[in-house]
Amino acid sequence: MGLLDGKVAVISGGTQGLGLGIAHVFGREGAKVAVIGRTPSKAEAFDKDMAERGYEAMSYVGDVTSKETVEKFITAVVEKWGTVDIDINCAGIYIPATVMETTDEILYKTFDISVKGSLYMMQACYPYFHKQGSGKVINWGSIAGNQGLELHTSYSISKAALQGLTRVAALEWARENIQVNCVNPAGDSPLWREWEANQPPEMVEAFLNQIPAHRMGDAEEDIGRAIAALCSDYCNWITSRTIWLDGGQGATR
Ligand SMILES: NC(=O)c1ccc[n+]([C@@H]2O[C@H](COP(=O)([O-])OP(=O)(O)OC[C@H]3O[C@@H](n4cnc5c(N)ncnc54)[C@H](O)[C@@H]3O)[C@@H](O)[C@H]2O)c1
Repeated sequence: MGLLDGKVAVISGGTQGLGLGIAHVFGREGAKVAVIGRTPSKAEAFDKDMAERGYEAMSYVGDVTSKETVEKFITAVVEKWGTVDIDINCAGIYIPATVMETTDEILYKTFDISVKGSLYMMQACYPYFHKQGSGKVINWGSIAGNQGLELHTSYSISKAALQGLTRVAALEWARENIQVNCVNPAGDSPLWREWEANQPPEMVEAFLNQIPAHRMGDAEEDIGRAIAALCSDYCNWITSRTIWLDGGQGATR
């Protein structure tokens, strides 16, 4: 028996990185998994990968900054599987820029994907959560939402905003048995690898030194399993919180 047997989960940005790690664990734990992403080739690769693993899954090509697209995605999921139980809002981007370098374009691009994208996903899922009297939402924050990080201006603003969105929705939806939480991860993913590749080795070393185990978390075993637990009925009393899935990084900064 799986932890998420019969549950229907949607994951934005789930064709790679932490979202994909979560999709694998959710499949292993008995959930049906739908992802939305912008790149058709990655969507195809996702479908193939999940089918080879024997998991029930579907992909939808689309951009979470379009409310209409997100609504169509959730409608397609409900048409296929009858409802939606879990909403994982993983889609995000990082554009390095100082405060003075941050243009409207950088600010709104980051904000639209992270904050508007997550809000649209939550708004599209809510009617089904409301109808069935249960639901789980996980928003994707960052250490940058709580602590100062140079070059993280638009990222930091959007990740802090997600914590606010999480708290408001958690309060509004608590009596309907809908739990809304945010996580601050430190996990191995293409986003991390790209950052790592563009830093001098001493900078990467300094970053890893902040993590007590001196490594990034594994997308499946460290991040995905924690998310599966949070989205299971074992965690129905956890809501509104920002939970650090970072191997202790936050304690060392
Ligand atoms: N990896 C980490 O250590 C770390 C740390 C802090 C926060 N995060 C956050 O965790 C989440 C997942 O990160 P990751 O490391 O797996 O990153 P990633 O870049 O590997 O994956 C993010 C995914 O989101 C997708 N995406 C971006 N814009 C989109 C859009 N408009 N519509 C649909 N999909 C879109 C990307 O194409 C990609 O597939 C992000 O929100 C990120 O900010 C990650």
